[in-house]
Amino acid sequence: MAERLLAVQGLTKRFGGLTAVDDVSFEVERGEIVGLIGPNGAGKTTVFNLISRFFDPTKGAIEFEGKNLLRAAPHEIVGLGIARTFQNLGLFPYLSVRDNLLAGRHTQFRGSILGLALGMGREEERAAVTEVMAMLDAFGMGALAPMPASMLPYGSQKAVELVRALMAKPRLVLLDEPVAGMNATETQAMGQFIRRVRDERGVTVLLVEHDMSLVMEVCDRIVVLDFGRKIAEGTPHEIQTNPRVVEAYLGEEVDRAPV
Ligand SMILES: Nc1ncnc2c1ncn2[C@@H]1O[C@H](COP(=O)(O)OP(=O)(O)OP(=O)(O)O)[C@@H](O)[C@H]1O
Ligand SMILES: [Mg+2]
Repeated sequence: MAERLLAVQGLTKRFGGLTAVDDVSFEVERGEIVGLIGPNGAGKTTVFNLISRFFDPTKGAIEFEGKNLLRAAPHEIVGLGIARTFQNLGLFPYLSVRDNLLAGRHTQFRGSILGLALGMGREEERAAVTEVMAMLDAFGMGALAPMPASMLPYGSQKAVELVRALMAKPRLVLLDEPVAGMNATETQAMGQFIRRVRDERGVTVLLVEHDMSLVMEVCDRIVVLDFGRKIAEGTPHEIQTNPRVVEAYLGEEVDRAPV
């Protein structure tokens, strides 16, 4: 039976006179890949910022694994099992892939990389490196470990960002535009990678993305926002054929995107 992982209820966020998120409710079940789509400025990133507690909602409730997330401080979110990647924030360019992942693992129990460097004993460090290498190997990326992040092709950098988020052992990952700037081949590879993360690691995924080929390919279910409001929810097929969604967002894209 389906198990509810995340529940967002009547979520509202106002910035001054602007209602960025307006009475939005949806649920995510454990093991699902759910897409959150909509035009620019629809409120998608704001929903992520509310779930990760960057902002307090003006109104509404957010529950994760039955816990009231609004009682948690932002720095507690990773520890509760939620990790995210950012729309415009990449890896540390001069650090190796390995060290970037060590930094990601670190966020599960301490505040800063520096703290890790200073505070970790040799045994602990060895264990951490082993864990990082195991994670890279699991996804066939072991050879990338010593390379400076900036040397990787763009698609690989984005994959490493996702692996870094996984180092904190989240049950839910929030992915904000993981294929922005990617070509079709890289996009397809990322789609397969997101599926593997769900299939092999059991990680639930909430995905914000404008690339409809990816969204329609990987998502089990899609929630559509427009001007902060939820205007539709359903399977990729239902969303592609929903007249309101086509009018607000998909437009001609609906003819081209695969079902
Ligand atoms: N910190 C903030 N202060 C004021 N207004 C904000 C803030 N963050 C977002 N907004 C506004 O809220 C609205 C929703 O923005 P948001 O970034 O959530 O949209 P989005 O759906 O992620 O768009 P995009 O697809 O372009 O990334 C926009 O009008 C934006 O300008
Ligand atoms: Mg955004």
